[in-house]
Amino acid sequence: MRRPILAGNWKMNLTIAEATDFVRSIRRGLNEIKDVDRVLCPPYTALATVGELVSATEIEVGAQNMYWEEKGAYTGEIAPSMLKELCQYVILGHSERRAYFGETDEGVNRKIKAALAQGLKPIVCVGETEDQYDAGETEAVVSSQLRGGLTDLSAAQVAGLVIAYEPVWAIGTGKAATPAGAGAVIGMHIRGTISELYDESTAQAVRVQYGGSVKPSNVAEFMSHPDIDGALVGGASLKPDFVELVRIASEVASQIA
Ligand code: PGA
Repeated sequence: MRRPILAGNWKMNLTIAEATDFVRSIRRGLNEIKDVDRVLCPPYTALATVGELVSATEIEVGAQNMYWEEKGAYTGEIAPSMLKELCQYVILGHSERRAYFGETDEGVNRKIKAALAQGLKPIVCVGETEDQYDAGETEAVVSSQLRGGLTDLSAAQVAGLVIAYEPVWAIGTGKAATPAGAGAVIGMHIRGTISELYDESTAQAVRVQYGGSVKPSNVAEFMSHPDIDGALVGGASLKPDFVELVRIASEVASQIA
């Protein structure tokens, strides 16, 4: 049984003051929901504050990026050991980092290894652009992002990862993938690639989220798909009804279990 995991990717939103108000408004409701991992991913600047605000709850915290080196002359970067003091998870290889900040599969691979070495749990993002989707390249893109990103990781390490399938054309557009479409990519291409690289039990153990315009009104359909274990939520994670979204996800997951 894979435990569902819902993560809110706040991206570059909320000051410390705004984050404080927001977390105070959702933490009780979010904490009451059972049988699902709940992760809030604020910007670096709010990690410590959010961590303190949820410290007496089951809510966990994640960062949105990190560098792979442990220390040194890397102005503006954040090391895994620094995050380790602040959070449990780290989002790696988000498509916005790939598109705007030049992240490569090789860099994502280094980051995954560095995160695991510190006991951080990576949420590794993969997904095709609209042009790649239109050209029928989804399988090739997702498979090569995984092969590059997972290079030299052991089966046990891969089994412990969270992978987020986020088609770039669905992110922030209001145009979510269909649950059947996303489920097929996850089941056939993501679990399929992991099964080829490792084995079927590793492919079945890894948790895979869908991300891209997930909201309270469509999360149930995604959670109903047997290959989808949760969601990475951007815009809708900044609204109070993120609690409702997570509650619906947990209810659907417990019905299928
Ligand atoms: P969205 O973003 O939910 O706003 O589409 C998802 C993401 O980028 O992780």
